[in-house]
Amino acid sequence: MLTRCFESAQLNGLTLKNRFIKAGTFEGKSPLGLPNDLYSQFHMAMAEGGVGMTTLGYCATEADGRINENMLYMDEYLRPSISTLIEQLHAAGTKVSGQMGHCGGFSKNKQLKRKRPRGPQFGINLLGFPYGMLFTDKMSLEDIDEMVQSYHDAAVFMQSVGFDCIEIHFGHGYGLCQFMSPKTNKRKDEYGGSLENRMRLPLRALAAVRKAVGDDFPIIGKISLTEGVRGGLHYDDAIAIGKMLDAAGIDGLVTSGGTSTMNPMIMFRGDNILQPLIKAEKNLLMKLILRLVGPSMFRDYPYKELYFLQQAKRLREAVSCNMIYVGGASCNDSFAELMLAGFDFIQLGRGLLADSDLVNLAQQAAEKSLPYKSRCVHCNECVATIEHVDGIHCTRFS
Ligand SMILES: Cc1cc2nc3c(=O)[nH]c(=O)nc-3n(C[C@H](O)[C@H](O)[C@H](O)COP(=O)(O)O)c2cc1C
Ligand code: SF4
Repeated sequence: MLTRCFESAQLNGLTLKNRFIKAGTFEGKSPLGLPNDLYSQFHMAMAEGGVGMTTLGYCATEADGRINENMLYMDEYLRPSISTLIEQLHAAGTKVSGQMGHCGGFSKNKQLKRKRPRGPQFGINLLGFPYGMLFTDKMSLEDIDEMVQSYHDAAVFMQSVGFDCIEIHFGHGYGLCQFMSPKTNKRKDEYGGSLENRMRLPLRALAAVRKAVGDDFPIIGKISLTEGVRGGLHYDDAIAIGKMLDAAGIDGLVTSGGTSTMNPMIMFRGDNILQPLIKAEKNLLMKLILRLVGPSMFRDYPYKELYFLQQAKRLREAVSCNMIYVGGASCNDSFAELMLAGFDFIQLGRGLLADSDLVNLAQQAAEKSLPYKSRCVHCNECVATIEHVDGIHCTRFS
């Protein structure tokens, strides 16, 4: 089964040279939203290292959809730099996906045009609090229409600059997920309450993206199999959500978990990132907040290879779209197991940060019937480099 993941594969008409996709990892390397040379070098290294498709992490649908001002947003200002990069990646034989996201009410974007970030309901903006952005406003019905339009317009732009695929972020506690989760959505109108109502905005966003790009363009979605918080979304909800997205015409589902806002460690497993984050944080008030609320938010989840496999398999059985596994896939035995379990593609995050040529190395080992294992030790120190001036990097092997 291992050879299957090194063979070319189709994703709604798009041919990938193998079944490995670099997971969305907000790269940084884009001060004030402008990708620099390090940004291009990072993705070129992924292409040269053999991935079938790389993902440009966190492409905000609009300027106010950014968590911070250093994120890209999908607008004309990016056309020259992004279309050049995509051309270079294509020339290197790699397809390019863009992870489409919106922060909703979770933002510390110093360039925010609106008075406050907006989410499903009024509340405290924990992320922005130390920077004086204390609150999140409740989105009106007009705001919801505007957000849907931003997904449409971003998709038109992304297709026009050469992206091969769009990955809509439905998880990790960001904008759409804030509506999906009963923990963060207490609305009393048609966008809150039942799962059908909480899915109304995410499904409208998907429909808007589909309308923008047409039927023959791959759209995948990243979901949280569980948010890992009481009162939030759990594994059974993920099955229902997956079925709804599948029925609405999504081409593939990426099976992540956790939330950046409430329980991030369930997404990563391994060494706790709280202390490295406190060390890296420059804002003194944020340091204090992390010290106070961090221990309840950053819980310990020991690393286990393929930590989402059991629950991702349940979803595999429930939907007919492509299934894209993410979470602790780091060796050839795991890749083979995923192929055997019926997954169509494998996303890799930390493994590729530690070894950008992971796919080439794994294939060379497979051809000689030798084992292969990534060097990543799941220390998660790379996560704390997310705001580093040079962007994300593996602290051990780069
Ligand atoms: C440094 C870093 C940044 C990340 N940024 C994002 C992101 O912007 N969007 C996202 O959906 N996931 C993000 N992730 C999570 C990964 O996409 C992936 O789900 C997670 O690392 C588990 O996969 P892995 O075991 O292959 O690393 C990030 C992970 C790392 C290590
Ligand atoms: S810093 Fe390097 S070794 Fe540690 S988790 Fe990140 S990629 Fe793996």
